[in-house]
Amino acid sequence: MDATPDPAEWSIVALPAVVPAPASIALPGGAAFPLTAHTEIAGDADAAATARALIATRTGLDLRAGSTGSGPVTSGSTGSDPAITLRIDGAGTPESYRLHASAASVTVIGSDAAGLFYGIQTLGQLIAETDGGGWGIPAAEIADAPRFRYRGVMLDVARHFHGVETVKALIDRAASLKLNALHLHLSDDQGWRLELRSRPLLTEKASATAVGGDPGGFYTQADYRGIVAYAAAHHMIVVPEFDMPGHTHAVTLAYPELNEQPKVDEHMLEIIRDYGGDAPAHGVPYDGMAVGFSSLKIHDDATYAFVTDVFTELAELTPGPYLHLGGDEALGTPPEDFAHFVERASAIVAATGKTPIAWHEAGVVGERLAPGTVGQYWGFRTPTDGMDEKTRGFVAAGGQIILSPADAIYLDMKYDADAALGLVWAGVVSAQQSYAWDPATVIDGIGDDEILGVEAPLWAETARTLSDIDTLAFPRIASAAEAGWSPAAGASALRTWDSFAQRVAGLAPLWTSMGIAFTPLPGIPWPAAAPAPAPGIDAATDAEATGAVPA
Ligand code: ACM
Repeated sequence: MDATPDPAEWSIVALPAVVPAPASIALPGGAAFPLTAHTEIAGDADAAATARALIATRTGLDLRAGSTGSGPVTSGSTGSDPAITLRIDGAGTPESYRLHASAASVTVIGSDAAGLFYGIQTLGQLIAETDGGGWGIPAAEIADAPRFRYRGVMLDVARHFHGVETVKALIDRAASLKLNALHLHLSDDQGWRLELRSRPLLTEKASATAVGGDPGGFYTQADYRGIVAYAAAHHMIVVPEFDMPGHTHAVTLAYPELNEQPKVDEHMLEIIRDYGGDAPAHGVPYDGMAVGFSSLKIHDDATYAFVTDVFTELAELTPGPYLHLGGDEALGTPPEDFAHFVERASAIVAATGKTPIAWHEAGVVGERLAPGTVGQYWGFRTPTDGMDEKTRGFVAAGGQIILSPADAIYLDMKYDADAALGLVWAGVVSAQQSYAWDPATVIDGIGDDEILGVEAPLWAETARTLSDIDTLAFPRIASAAEAGWSPAAGASALRTWDSFAQRVAGLAPLWTSMGIAFTPLPGIPWPAAAPAPAPGIDAATDAEATGAVPA
């Protein structure tokens, strides 16, 4: 066995790339913990497997199996090499952890399994190459816990279908940033993406197409259960959405009697002119990008039999506590009918035993929502058009709020006007803009107590592949993770753009080793080995702005 190298060789000087910023971190300096192929990992067996896999991804080191097991661990080391000890102590708030790293040892203690998992993600982010050409973990003392309980990412699998492997890859990525909810937007005008035994025609007849005439697809129940299990292994819940009463054109392919005829106004015709595609026609697959033209029939009992069937079966398939019923952009539904629908639909979801979530428009009915219905705000950082008032309606009904401000953390907004991917209706959103907000200052009257959490949606009109998802989401998804996990802006010295930009830049090697096709957006001092800028990003400007050496 190799002797432990001289600690003098292992100093690491850069600001650790911990994202989201931890609640507290102290860096005593001095020698780093040397990470070698002989480093032993002791303690919780699941956590040890997670840590070994992450270390292998980041460094290529194949750590030997240490003494593992769920029993008490008194010492991390059974040999002469410094060891990493991982354990759960049941103390502290949910999802919290403490991490100690010194030249002699590393210990990560989670309050629960999720906390330990998050401590390991931090450990993975701390790993750095040492002056001596090896790997090390800088001396650090971290005590960390999330600010908000719900930290999500949403993937739209309706405008373009994304298969199980892509969804699992997104789970890997999101969990590494301590996100704990995967919201799947499973139905929209363009397709229905989940097999239901109660309504088999939905996937038999309404799943085959996608935006731009691309092929569609759907998850079998086994696929969906596999996604749920994979998410659970990464301490994430799945929050499935069937969007209603608008965004339901696909239903006309399977159950045409349930929908009104499409309502096409001048604004939709403009979108159709700008983005192509045909105007929607009842019973014909829709592959364009217009929104708001479809509506379920609101005063027909068959509609509520349908809503009951689909959410009852979704509840049976979903172990997580939430079902999302949509409720956005129901421009084809008269306002009084919309109110009637969301009142009944939220009650139907609540009757399954799950907590309903709806987009903020549904808050218009206030206390008529099922008690505890969660509202998801997707307006701007400064609310417009009464969206704040609608959002407060959920609080009136005893529910909390998820914040998804579109001009900050809608991951499908273009990051540069010339970028090939993305939309611009909420603006061109730079990395700085994605970071420049705090959840508690978006909506008057909605502070930390009323906020369930933060979620970054990725709508998939232009995102066809995992690489497209990466290109749009990274690095801006890290802003959402920091808004959801870290102390409030102003409550921590780390919660500044400059600190964030430095820490995100430091994640480039980890992201590269994870296969993440991130975009090296301007304003972040990427290391020289960052990938070449995406189309639309001027490398010279990046380098001038940040001092980074272009790749
Ligand atoms: C939305 O972006 N229509 C929720």
